[in-house]
Amino acid sequence: MFSKPRYISASISGFSKLSKTKKIDWLVDTYFSNKDEAKQVLTQYWNSNNKLQSLHDEFIENTITNYYLPLGVAPNFLINGKMHTIPMAIEESSVVAAASKAAKFWLDYGGFKTQVISTTKIGQVHFMYHGEFKTLQGFFNTIKPKLIQDTKPITKNMDKRGGGILDILLKDKTKDINGYYQLHATFETLDAMGANFINSCLEQFAKTFKVEAEKHLEQTIDIVMSILSNYVPECLVRAEVSCALKDIPTHEFNAEKFIQAIRIAEVEPFRAVTHNKGIMNGIDAVVLATGNDFRAVEAGVHAYASRNGKYSSLTHAKIENGIFTLWMEIPLALGTVGGLTNLHPLVKFALELLDKPTAKELMQIVAVAGLAQNFAALRSLTTTGIQEGHMKMHLMNILNQFEATKKEKENLINHFKTHTVTHGSVVEELDKLRTIDL
Ligand code: MEV
Repeated sequence: MFSKPRYISASISGFSKLSKTKKIDWLVDTYFSNKDEAKQVLTQYWNSNNKLQSLHDEFIENTITNYYLPLGVAPNFLINGKMHTIPMAIEESSVVAAASKAAKFWLDYGGFKTQVISTTKIGQVHFMYHGEFKTLQGFFNTIKPKLIQDTKPITKNMDKRGGGILDILLKDKTKDINGYYQLHATFETLDAMGANFINSCLEQFAKTFKVEAEKHLEQTIDIVMSILSNYVPECLVRAEVSCALKDIPTHEFNAEKFIQAIRIAEVEPFRAVTHNKGIMNGIDAVVLATGNDFRAVEAGVHAYASRNGKYSSLTHAKIENGIFTLWMEIPLALGTVGGLTNLHPLVKFALELLDKPTAKELMQIVAVAGLAQNFAALRSLTTTGIQEGHMKMHLMNILNQFEATKKEKENLINHFKTHTVTHGSVVEELDKLRTIDL
């Protein structure tokens, strides 16, 4: 007899219908040797407030526990003359400290200036058609008002608030794929991120389009899919900092090298990816803290970074007439109503901390967090190097990993003010301390 391969014994049907406890029982029985310990790891994160716990349980399917990320805040952000403390949910040790430092630095030079350039979002119905293009175009022109009319039950409220469907275009994509066309629609979704709104409109367009095509066209229309695009180059925000070079103490900042670093990221994709990753450290942390979709933002921002055919830096810098300027324009589709914003207590907290921003205001705050992060990273990289700051923060992680006491922490933080932090050196110093204490 063959023994059952592990992947077969680990398959299960009806898993989603099991209770949370039964799901965990199955998991630990199937995958863990120390079952009690594995269970304890999960259950220690359950919230004792049952209502709060079941709220989190119901965000997704098959929830077994909560996954914590630290929620930190970076104060002293002056944006268009208004002070902000920015909430950031992130695990990387140096990000909040870097944001706070950059905010403090620019506070002395007038803070950040921002501007929303555009707020249009896009959705597409992708379909196949093998008849005459002219006939299709004529048909589309005739039924376009009906496409919009049939979505009225969905768009009624959004229309009332001043948003809704802006336009629908028929796009001929047959150069790329034989028979491929699109209904390419643009939307204004105001304070909502708008994914549900856009997708509902698109699915209605597809239904009407198909039904009407069956009545009026000889050739059939085959709908492939209807979905919003997370590429939003027309939902754009600009953030900028600037100051007279003569006002910046040279030991604080090397403007020439800083600009060289930006140029390198503009022309060299290997560097650009890391450069932009640093920007996303700030952006994702605020996007996550405010209950927005960081995957959508990531996908859209990186597509934008490649819009000219080569992946490049999102930030730019110049010195003109003795004035140093660092700026960035990025696409950000964000919401401050709907989705998690009314559901997750910490998201509500974060939005209240930000003075209940509109989506436009949040776009500006998020862009600033990204720009601040880029400033902090390049300032370190072109002066002291990044490891000094990183390793100081990393020190705490190592000390926690070895369950250092308060006294040991104080002692070692002091020691590493003048010594280089490496994993090995921290362990060695901790061992020394512990031997002395024995
Ligand atoms: C680390 O998370 C981010 C940096 O690598 C960004 C950069 O190199 O610009 C420091």
